[in-house]
Amino acid sequence: MTTDRPWASVTACPHGPLLVRGDVEILLPDGSPAPRRRSTVALCRCGASGIKPYCDGSHKVIGFRTEDEQPAHPERPEHGERPEHDERPAPRSPR
Ligand code: FES
Repeated sequence: MTTDRPWASVTACPHGPLLVRGDVEILLPDGSPAPRRRSTVALCRCGASGIKPYCDGSHKVIGFRTEDEQPAHPERPEHGERPEHDERPAPRSPR
């Protein structure tokens, strides 16, 4: 499949950040672009990060929980038996 549109995805990690993959501009509250050096970044949603808008792992320290979320892949082991971040391959970019 060929497309001229940039691709991007956002994955909500159980009890953790939002993983943003792809060509997306992240803006700070003042409208300026957030510095970004990687195509995949983790955005804090617990509020405890010292490097907002990015995750610095503080969600683990404060015990951030997202109890309302269901596993994206029920066939996978439950949380606690796999790494916190989704390790599925990144979506393929357009050719
Ligand atoms: S989600 Fe990781 S520090 Fe907030």
